[in-house]
Amino acid sequence: MRLIPQPKSIELYSETTKLREITDFEITSEIKNDESYELIITSDKITARASGEKGLHYARVSLKQILKLYDEIPCLKIKDEPRFPHRGFMIDCARHMFSLDELKKMISTAADFKFNKFHWHLSDDQGFRIELESLPELTEKGSVRHCDNFRNCKSEKEYHGFYTKDQIREIVEFCRYRFIDVIPEFDMPGHQSALLHVFPQYTCKGTAVEVKTKEGIFKDIICAGNLEAHACIEKILDELCELFPYDTVHIGGDEVPKNNWKSCGKCRKIMLDNGLKDENELQCWFINKMADYLKNKDKKCIVWNDCLKGKGLSQELTIQHWMGKPQKSAKTANNGQKIIMSPFMPFYVDYPYDMHPLRAVYSLEPENLRGLNKTGKRNIKGVESPIWTEFINNNSRLEYMCFPRWFAVAETGWTVKENKNYKEFLSVCRKLSDIYKKNGLNVAPEEDWNPRISERLYKTLSFFLPKRK
Ligand code: ACM
Ligand code: ZN
Repeated sequence: MRLIPQPKSIELYSETTKLREITDFEITSEIKNDESYELIITSDKITARASGEKGLHYARVSLKQILKLYDEIPCLKIKDEPRFPHRGFMIDCARHMFSLDELKKMISTAADFKFNKFHWHLSDDQGFRIELESLPELTEKGSVRHCDNFRNCKSEKEYHGFYTKDQIREIVEFCRYRFIDVIPEFDMPGHQSALLHVFPQYTCKGTAVEVKTKEGIFKDIICAGNLEAHACIEKILDELCELFPYDTVHIGGDEVPKNNWKSCGKCRKIMLDNGLKDENELQCWFINKMADYLKNKDKKCIVWNDCLKGKGLSQELTIQHWMGKPQKSAKTANNGQKIIMSPFMPFYVDYPYDMHPLRAVYSLEPENLRGLNKTGKRNIKGVESPIWTEFINNNSRLEYMCFPRWFAVAETGWTVKENKNYKEFLSVCRKLSDIYKKNGLNVAPEEDWNPRISERLYKTLSFFLPKRK
């Protein structure tokens, strides 16, 4: 028997059963990991054993998939536990928003594959998408951009929108029921044009900033030395912490062009007062300060690995590795820092199958980070696959790009290395893709999963050279 993700062990028996539901739930201290479980199917009962509700939930998820795949349910004993505690998917709702119904469809599909972290990217240069009581102007002005299409910026059709607090609570509740933690991302000090459009006084130069209408990296960043800007961010974090009742917040830290910091009196003063050698150290100081603020609210933080450019980043932050020097991320993991693996190649599923084919996504081994030693391997908390949405503005495209590649990420997050097998995965992936497609999910057709090399080059080039009007 083969599932996705493949369980740690399955013993199959010759009988079958007509039962379709778990009949016996057993909470036991014999099972230590709270996500682990046993599922025992005999002809007259189906038993789930776990240390608590979470494990029982994963037993249910496995049974649900068995029922999807098999008409006759075989008697069996599954003993299962996850390889990693962090099995994440990220959706960028800043560049393009998706309705609650669409988000729920994505989340419930991810839950079927035992993902347990929804990283929700909610603010960026192109829009601020969280309703806040203390700063209503952030959504009034910061959620609006003067173009709805990054590839046709002459369109001047306004794009706007945000999630109300009630809508966010609805998603949080939907996730809670599926044992998925929601990790909101408030990306700083870069990727902040939407906030800086509302508060240009928080840039180093105090000049006007537009909510951006194109993809890219922008020089408008928060002034690291402006204490009023810090207070504003803290207000935002206060409301985020109320909305998201989980132990972790993502505070970004990626792609920060620091030229403006070089010539800013306020930034220089912070550097001088704190003995900071360069702007990269200033970024670490700023990120540490925000993480300390959140620590006082009992929250841990995740940051992108760009933060490792400077010395002095707090060891308590979890690093999300996406691009840049693998040795640097490996070294910090070797020194005890926790790390989540989101390598651009091939986990960024906003890039086409021609660049990041299914086989490559499946084959990514998170421990294969150059320079990682035994301790470093133990500090890998898990995997996460993001979908950025500069060029994805409809549900059907969103689903096509994510599925079935997220099935592959799910298996890497849950299944021990020794139990992974691409051929076996593929055979179940085919069956499940058909089933999900019939149920209305736009899973990519099999001919798109692993394009031939000759096609890949041409299509990859055309992805990067879009026809702009
Ligand atoms: C990133 O893709 N800029 C984290
Ligand atoms: Zn400054």
